[in-house]
Order: sequence, then C-alpha cells, then structure tokens
Amino acid sequence: MYKTFVKPVLFQFDAEAAHYAAFQALPLLTRPVVGAAVRASLGIDWAACHAPHLARRVMGLVFANPVGLAAGFDKDARFVAEWAAVGFGHVEIGTLTPRPQPGNDKPRMFRLPADRGLINRLGFNNGGAEVAALRLQKRPAGLIVGGNIGKNKDTPNDEAANDYLRGFDALADVVDYIAVNVSSPNTPGLRALQDREPLQRLLGQLQARNQRRRTPLPLALKLAPDLSDEQLRDAAALVVEAGFAGVIATNTTIARDGLRTPAAVVERFGAGGLSGAPLTARALAVTQLLRAALPAEVALIGVGGVMSAQDALDRLAAGADLVQLYTGFVYEGPGLVTQICRAI
Ligand code: FNR
Repeated sequence: MYKTFVKPVLFQFDAEAAHYAAFQALPLLTRPVVGAAVRASLGIDWAACHAPHLARRVMGLVFANPVGLAAGFDKDARFVAEWAAVGFGHVEIGTLTPRPQPGNDKPRMFRLPADRGLINRLGFNNGGAEVAALRLQKRPAGLIVGGNIGKNKDTPNDEAANDYLRGFDALADVVDYIAVNVSSPNTPGLRALQDREPLQRLLGQLQARNQRRRTPLPLALKLAPDLSDEQLRDAAALVVEAGFAGVIATNTTIARDGLRTPAAVVERFGAGGLSGAPLTARALAVTQLLRAALPAEVALIGVGGVMSAQDALDRLAAGADLVQLYTGFVYEGPGLVTQICRAI
C-alpha cells in the first residue's frame, strides 16, 4: 500500500513538504479501530516487532527490538506514540538546540530516486530542547527515546560546549539516552568538534555533568562517515576515555561519488548531507572498523543506508547492536520496520 499508493502521491510534492504532509496522517496509526486497519494496510505488524527474541539490552537499556528511527525525522518529538505503533524499539528525537531556530532557506531537502537517496541541508530547524522536553513528559511506555543534541548556528565553536550542556540539562529527565551530534554537515564548523582536542573537551564536560546526576544516562557520540579511518579510531579512543556508552555511525555524507543521478542535477541541489543507498557501503565499513576499535561494552548503533532487511542483517552481523532508519523509511515505508523484525 505504501509503495503503490502513498509514496507516489508524496513524491509529487517537494521533499520537505511531503515529510510534513505525511506527519498529518500519522495520528491515524494510533486511532482506535481505524488504526489497526491503517497499520495492516501499511504492512505494520507490531506483534512481530515485539517477539521476545528481538529484545536487546544495550547501553544498560532494554530495547523491544534493535530497530530505531534515526535523528532528524521527528526533531521536535511530536509523534512518539505513533513511532511506537509502527513497531520501532527506539526513536532518537532531535537534533535539538538550546534555542529554537528556523534552519536554512528552503528548498533544503531533495530526492535522488535513481539512487534511493536524499540530500538535505535543513540546518537543525527545531523548536528548542525545552519545548520538546515538555512534550516528552507525556510519552508512552515501552519505547526507548534518545535525545540528540547540537549547538545553535550562531554559537561559536569555542562556546559550543555550553549549548550541548544546556541541551543535556533540558532533556536528561525525559529521555533514556543522550546522543551528541558533532557530525551534521549543515551547521558551519560543527564537524570540527570531531577534532581530537575539542572532542575530548566536549565529551569530558558532558560526562562530568552527567555524573552529577543521581542516575547518569548512557551517552552516545554520533560520527560522520567522512572521517578517515584514523580519525574514527581516535574518536573511538576518546569515547572510551570519556566513559561514553555508545557510538552512532553514521551521519550523512558530504561525498557525491558514484551517483546515478546526473551530476548537473546533483550540483543544482547544492550543499548538504547525502543519505540512503549511496551511504550503505561506507556506513557498513565504518561499523566494522568501529566494532574492531571499541571494547564490547561500548554499544554501536548502525545507521546510514539501511534500505532493506538484508542491509539491517548485514549491519548487525558487522557488529552493530542496534540499527536506525531514515531514508529507507522514506523509500520503503513503515512496513520496513516489520520486515527487519521478521528477518532477524
Ligand atoms: C538527517 N540526519 C540527522 N542526524 C542528526 O543527528 N540530527 C539531525 O537533525 C538530522 N537530520 C536529518 C534530516 C534529514 C532530512 C536526513 C535525511 C537525515 C541524519 C540521519 O539521522 C542519518 O544519520 C542519516 O540520514 C543516514 O541514515 P539513512 O538516512 O541513510 O538511513
């Protein structure tokens, strides 16, 4: 139903407009009576995603299954109950910044259907961490929620830690884990926070704040696929040093290699992060590299080009403890979550 009826209609519209149009329909998923029919027509089998053998203990948390919704899809935590109804084991909300901000000028999200990819330069459009935290005070049980935090565009990098600490403080009481995003290509200078010294300082400051809590939260670092293998190993060492619980790999890429979409079209779309199938091979390789670089107790969340159940199985076999979807969800629809759960 999604690929024959819903997607062809959504794909008629601008990519970002379609995203928000689809959001309007999401509450149908949880309506009494109607919801069951809507879910079935979309290939969603909630029970298949809650079979006991799918449960995983990761970062000290119990996930109903290893499939999650990646950050950026529901930045403002508006539809947490609906993501639970789709069958996800977790959702990562955000990226949230301390102050609300509009993001970059539109259009800023583009489809590459020939490549089953997306390019976006949204630039952390969000309503602010505190507003999202208020929404999360009423969240359904049984779904793990991660809070992905970043810095405001106009905060200079040498003050970035304050933004991350404010985001942490706003969200820590209402989420199960915190994801530290230093890897979006759409906030100028953000990825420089992945350099050794600033990264060491940022992770240390966040963990120090976290350890002052009565129950510290698991912290995870989200990395870019464009880091060299050496940079990835350095980051892994810093994650261990700071006592982080996990690494999320990967964010979108600034690379444009090997695309089927004509170069002129890609150029017209302009700057931004590329996601989806063109990212599958690199994100898988990064998973393998990080699994080898990290001790077993540090969790690995595999994201980037998981477009099919087989991609998810490959990522788990490469050492990911959990997987996340964004672009695969756009191209394949919500039934992909059930397909992955059935395949595991
Ligand atoms: C993203 N992604 C993202 N990541 C993040 O940490 N914070 C964010 O705000 C966003 N926003 C965002 C918007 C859009 C439109 C896309 C396509 C992606 C990155 C996302 O979480 C994921 O890491 C990558 O998209 C790779 O996974 P997929 O899309 O290939 O499954």
